[in-house]
Amino acid sequence: MTASTSGAILTVALVLVSCAKASTGNFNLAVPPGAVYVDPLMYNVLGQNYTEWRNLSTVGFNPTNTAPPFIQVFDSSFLDVIGPSATIRSITSNPGFAFAHEAPIYVPDLNAVFFTSNDGGPLGYNGWYNNSVVSMINMTEVDMALASTMGDVNVQIQTLNLPYTVQMVNGGTGPYKGDLLLITSGRALLPPSIVRVNPSPPYNATVLLDNLLGRQFNSLNDIKILPGTDIMFFTDPTYGWMNGFRPEPMLPSQVYRFDPSTGQVRVVADQFVHPNGIAFSADGKFAFVTDTGVSGGFLGTNQTFPATIYQFDVDPLTQTFANRRVFAYSDSGVPDGIQLDTMGNVYSGCGEATHVWNAEGTLIGKFYLNSTTAQMIFTKSGLVILDEEAIYLANIQAQGLDLTTL
Ligand SMILES: *[C@@H]1O[C@H](CO)[C@@H](O)[C@H](O)[C@H]1NC(C)=O
Ligand SMILES: *[C@@H]1O[C@H](CO)[C@@H](O)[C@H](O)[C@H]1NC(C)=O
Ligand SMILES: *[C@@H]1O[C@H](CO)[C@@H](O)[C@H](O)[C@H]1NC(C)=O
Ligand SMILES: *[C@@H]1O[C@H](CO)[C@@H](O)[C@H](O)[C@H]1NC(C)=O
Ligand SMILES: *[C@@H]1O[C@H](CO)[C@@H](O)[C@H](O)[C@H]1NC(C)=O
Ligand SMILES: *[C@@H]1O[C@H](CO)[C@@H](O)[C@H](O)[C@H]1NC(C)=O
Ligand SMILES: *[C@@H]1O[C@H](CO)[C@@H](O)[C@H](O)[C@H]1NC(C)=O
Repeated sequence: MTASTSGAILTVALVLVSCAKASTGNFNLAVPPGAVYVDPLMYNVLGQNYTEWRNLSTVGFNPTNTAPPFIQVFDSSFLDVIGPSATIRSITSNPGFAFAHEAPIYVPDLNAVFFTSNDGGPLGYNGWYNNSVVSMINMTEVDMALASTMGDVNVQIQTLNLPYTVQMVNGGTGPYKGDLLLITSGRALLPPSIVRVNPSPPYNATVLLDNLLGRQFNSLNDIKILPGTDIMFFTDPTYGWMNGFRPEPMLPSQVYRFDPSTGQVRVVADQFVHPNGIAFSADGKFAFVTDTGVSGGFLGTNQTFPATIYQFDVDPLTQTFANRRVFAYSDSGVPDGIQLDTMGNVYSGCGEATHVWNAEGTLIGKFYLNSTTAQMIFTKSGLVILDEEAIYLANIQAQGLDLTTL
């Protein structure tokens, strides 16, 4: 653990910036130090100079030109999410290696977060021949380190030595009956799978599913349990092929339901470009699936495709996803992983920030890092945000939905 002074300087700078902005009189909402209020009404008319603002979705909307990381507030209801004294601090980093991409799982008994490196993407250092890497960060150590300084910290993470059956982890949830529930994209001819992993040494694993009646999935991406059940719902886009580590896809890009007690697998939703993150409302009535259509791997980026979160009703009888509608479109990058808090707000990792919408789909705020954050997870210490080459902690007041399956 080492403390960096740059973080402390940044925190001071953020306070100064927010005070300066507040004193201009353009901002009529009091926000915590380090947060910035962006009133949508001030930016409704920009005229012809759009290139001065944004001509690409990869450029974030930061009209106050605030130095990241910071909290951007679009609606007063976001103050209930962040609380009076939220900060964002880096808790570990490793520039040059995308060690912290997705599959965050918080295990309360260990007070630890597990996560995986980027599979097939930039700075992941894996592919057809190389596996991705799953690691753990001890939040007790994070809390101790953060208490010792005002600035950023760099807590040592621990890499797990997982069995060979676990190839290219991309998503996860849990604890599921005490284990990590990981979903893998597979690698080369090794199949994508759903696998239970012991969160403690020797990290032994049990594969629960790796095919659809003999047909391999394309490259499974993310998974959630329907609240109140032990039934698994998961997405299967074609990123394994598009990122060069899986053969050509042989199934549509769709969402599946798996009942581990009967072994039955069925499709619950289709008509996506690239179905990606998945989440349920606390009562299990609504499902959310993100479509990262804009990101096409070797096919490139095409901003006319979806960067969209769809909402569905979970059919009470069949548990298929009915009544698809747009929940939200991300103005930046693509909405990747998705989580909900206990107030029903929806969080998704997008191009420059973690975006937060209320239950009606109104954008209320962002945790603005100015780089792609694919997934995040709530912990006892706050919101842990995976940022590829770093991990951030936002010590906010909102609590996440309990993702534990007993
Ligand atoms: C557009 O840019 C020009 C040149 O920078 C500037 O003079 C003008 O005020 C801008 N217009 C608007 C509406 O921002
Ligand atoms: C976007 O704007 C920048 C800066 O004005 C310019 O260099 C770039 O060519 C523009 N890109 C597109 C796609 O219009
Ligand atoms: C955000 O990142 C881009 C490059 O990725 C950089 O050009 C820009 O200056 C950054 N913005 C801020 C406010 O730091
Ligand atoms: C986390 O760190 C604390 C303090 O060093 C230690 O007591 C605990 O055993 C660690 N937990 C894990 C899961 O390694
Ligand atoms: C795979 O791993 C080997 C050994 O660590 C490394 O030399 C090679 O560059 C890696 N390949 C890719 C595609 O990153
Ligand atoms: C790990 O091994 C123990 C001891 O054999 C076993 O009880 C447990 O079910 C295993 N866990 C997984 C996830 O395979
Ligand atoms: C984006 O996709 C649309 C619809 O398929 C296509 O017409 C267009 O040529 C694509 N643009 C790029 C830059 O690939």
